Amino acid sequence: MSYLIDPTTTKSWEKLKTHFTEIESTHLNELFKKEATRKEDFTLVLEQLEFDFSKNRISKQTLEYLIDLTNETGLEKAIEDLFKGKKINNTENRAVLHTALRDFTDEKINIDGEYIFPMIESARKQIADFSEQIISKKWKGYTGKPITDIVNIGIGGSDLGPQMIVEALDYYKNRLNTHFISNIDGDAVYKTLSNLNPETTLFIVVSKTFTTIETLTNATTCKNWFLEKASLVAIEKHFVAVSSNEKAVVAFGINKKNIFPMWNWVGGRFSMWGSVGLSISLAIGYENFEAFLQGANTADKHFKNTKYSKNIPVIMALLSVWYTNFFNTKAEVVLPYADSLNKLVSYLQQLFMESNGKSVDRNGNSISYQTGSVIFGSSGTNAQHSFMQHIHQGTQMIPADFIGFTESLYGNTKHHAILMANFYAQSQALQQGKSKEAVHLNMKFKGDLKEINNLLPFKVFEGNRPSNSFLFDKLTPYNLGMLIALYEHKVFTQGIIWNINSFDQFGVELGKEMAKNS
Ligand code: F6P
Repeated sequence: MSYLIDPTTTKSWEKLKTHFTEIESTHLNELFKKEATRKEDFTLVLEQLEFDFSKNRISKQTLEYLIDLTNETGLEKAIEDLFKGKKINNTENRAVLHTALRDFTDEKINIDGEYIFPMIESARKQIADFSEQIISKKWKGYTGKPITDIVNIGIGGSDLGPQMIVEALDYYKNRLNTHFISNIDGDAVYKTLSNLNPETTLFIVVSKTFTTIETLTNATTCKNWFLEKASLVAIEKHFVAVSSNEKAVVAFGINKKNIFPMWNWVGGRFSMWGSVGLSISLAIGYENFEAFLQGANTADKHFKNTKYSKNIPVIMALLSVWYTNFFNTKAEVVLPYADSLNKLVSYLQQLFMESNGKSVDRNGNSISYQTGSVIFGSSGTNAQHSFMQHIHQGTQMIPADFIGFTESLYGNTKHHAILMANFYAQSQALQQGKSKEAVHLNMKFKGDLKEINNLLPFKVFEGNRPSNSFLFDKLTPYNLGMLIALYEHKVFTQGIIWNINSFDQFGVELGKEMAKNS
């Protein structure tokens, strides 16, 4: 591999260190004043997405140095290897091919002697056929009634993705109700089951390994609950599995023909584009699910084929590296201005923090520089009435991602105008802040003369706080697929620059072992 490079040993890293001292003392307002076309210069368009990164503490020179860093750390070769299915997950000796799950060409990728595209095609067909049968009521439960409720049992990558997407795309949903059981908390399991009828419920047990204690315990509880009313032969009408461990699924009692495949060349947190997305396909129909895959595929092609100065996920990653390693920021906040995207943050937490929470590089050496960030956030405007105070006036600089949509789904233009006014205002306030002079004038105008001396320092905002804005026309399956894939490629690019393997997760295994032994 030609990308086993400690980034701190590169020429561009040295240049960035010196350059940082210039940028650190420059206010974003100055940059906007000096550069009349800054907004246009730092905005990229990809189909329905406008990505505005002008409110970042960068100049054109910063970008050049950061792009040099990608060249010196071998990003181009790494991207090529990713898409070709090279075993870039070096600690587990596995390829990383979630991109293949949303590829509709017929690439000849061979993994360990098997062409994977026919396998992907056949899994897609299985998902499409099954979704059609359930939605159209052709598939009947053990007493002849159609299925009304779907329960996805899984955790981590086998839960967070489908749960987030099903909630986010609620507008597109059909007659089925979808539920998610993940936590080992029995109260949560019973709360879900208490509203369900075994005759009309379908359980999807999702576990790549089929050894995860939470999922197996929850699945067993659900099976026992089901068997209080139904007989063993009824299981095949009500239990299906998504897994790569066929033997364990069959041992659990699920019919072999009810297994949807997973493969070791797709990591759990990258898996909802395949069979793990079954609950998505059931909730919104296969056509919408495929639109979701197509959106992601558009982001893949953009990532693979676009020069880095115009490449959205590469820029996203570079900005994050710039803040993490030079400004020493520790956190990033994600703020979707759509209530239905509330679970996006939990999803991104796993994607970023399980992937890049590493302190040993690809060569097995301890790392001397910071990798990863704490990801947090929630939907706007709710966030504005909670933690945004910290982001506006706290002592830490926390780069923000604002995500918004110009059109509302249900057509309430009055609400949507207020929502979007807040979307624009927040990033503007973070950038511009409010100077002493402005506060003074404002208080004078309001007749607060007496209070000026007491309150003025508290009302001053320094501004100069960075953010990106992602603006789509509408929250559609296609656009959402694109957005998530852009974040995935951000994770990948960061991992290459930081010289870490973003695709293993040994850190979570230790706790699992200890819990088993206690
Ligand atoms: O928590 C660790 C983890 O391995 C995640 O990476 C994964 O998404 C989750 O557990 C679930 O694993 P499985 O699908 O094998 O049950």
